Amino acid sequence: MDKRYDELYKKAQACGQEHILRLYPSLSEASKSKLLDQIEQLDFAALRELFHHTKQPSVSTDGISPMEAYDSEDYSEEERKQLTETGWDRLRQGKVAALVVAGGQGSRLGNEGPKGTYNIGLPSGKSLFQLQAERLLNLSRRAGRSIPWYIMTSPENHQETVRYFQASLYFGYAPDDIFFFRQNVLPALDSVGRVLLSAKDEIGLTPSGNGDVFASMKRSGALDDLKRRGVEWLFYYNVDNALIRVADPLFVGAAAHHNHPIATKVAEKAYPEEKVGILCLKDGRPAVVEYMDLPKELMYETDSSGHLTYGLGNLSIHLFRTDFIERHADTNIPYHAAHKAVKYIDDQGHPVQPASPNAFKFEKFIFDFFPLDERMTVLKIRREEEFAPIKNKEGKDSPATARRLVQDLYKRWLLEAGAAPSVLEGRDIEISPLVSYAGEGLTPEVLKALLDAQFN
Ligand code: UD1
Repeated sequence: MDKRYDELYKKAQACGQEHILRLYPSLSEASKSKLLDQIEQLDFAALRELFHHTKQPSVSTDGISPMEAYDSEDYSEEERKQLTETGWDRLRQGKVAALVVAGGQGSRLGNEGPKGTYNIGLPSGKSLFQLQAERLLNLSRRAGRSIPWYIMTSPENHQETVRYFQASLYFGYAPDDIFFFRQNVLPALDSVGRVLLSAKDEIGLTPSGNGDVFASMKRSGALDDLKRRGVEWLFYYNVDNALIRVADPLFVGAAAHHNHPIATKVAEKAYPEEKVGILCLKDGRPAVVEYMDLPKELMYETDSSGHLTYGLGNLSIHLFRTDFIERHADTNIPYHAAHKAVKYIDDQGHPVQPASPNAFKFEKFIFDFFPLDERMTVLKIRREEEFAPIKNKEGKDSPATARRLVQDLYKRWLLEAGAAPSVLEGRDIEISPLVSYAGEGLTPEVLKALLDAQFN
């Protein structure tokens, strides 16, 4: 055995992790060095600390109180116009970029491949990524400059994501304006805190959560790219929202107007058990309590007017000021542990697929950055215009519900633009985001062309 092996063995042994080298003698030379390279990257002390956290009580809701939001419905015509113009100004000056977090494993949806490539069943067969690209292209065209687009993948889906964009010719986007970067990963730990192997020569690594995005941007050069371009506001969103208004000028304008380092869009929860985090104050600071951490009594609590006390649903639509990202890229926000069934290689080298949870995965959550500033801009919007999440294969928050929400919205736009209800009855409606971003521009000529093309 060589010196490097000896050193790493000792390092692992000191933390009770020497089992990861048990199969080492049976490996080829290439596999040996691959495994040692990976072990070299592990911070065993940090892993012990992480495991220690799984013994702590889960997130507490002590000290929480409801939070106020600006209601976009309450804006006067004039205010709305002014804020939107402020947003357009920033877009025209190249001060806005978009960031999609697409590194999740999409395990509830059970879809092979990156979630952004999912086709929700619109007549055109457009994927989530294509809908997003076209909305950005629409704004870019009107702003007279391209909106840089940062796409966070995981090591697992990175290549497939990039290949998908290449094969789709980036949907017409300038390839230089799209920056793909892999998110950080970290080991899963078994129920006694041991690192798992995913192959005889490989440590089992899992994505470290969307809250690791700023650290991942810094490591990958995406943050430098953002600064080099002079971007001031980064529009953050989940890959799985079919109605996402990427880089919405009104939202950018509201954020720039109030100028807190973070802005977020919220909507009233559809029902108390909806699986969305809730926005609130915690010890007087902005915070989100994730759906699994909200106790039943708070979930159903209502105020004097009968509304849910904690009814502001987190839609994962945020704006972060670049200086905030820079300041906090290395700030340690907490990890959340989830007990999951994780495939591994046992000490004899056999693959095991557990039927029940056997290991802890650790994730940081983006909204744990919220309490780092005393105030943030909170804009309440109408969910049926902007939120169509795809989480499950069937039932609630599924491709079928998202498709219906998208088509219902298109239908409302067409009706508002003057289409006769009878013409739309029972039709499979679709409006390209290249034609309309948020219902605008549906002039009689456009409307006629649209209806002729689709229904004749
Ligand atoms: C998330 C929010 C929840 C919100 C809901 C709205 C978090 C932690 N929770 O719930 O408060 O109400 O969206 O739809 O954000 N991702 C990565 N890397 C990872 C893990 C996730 O890029 O390591 C991405 C996913 O691809 C997805 C997004 O983060 O785009 C959210 O995924 P997930 O962690 O599953 O959270 P949700 O349950 O969807």
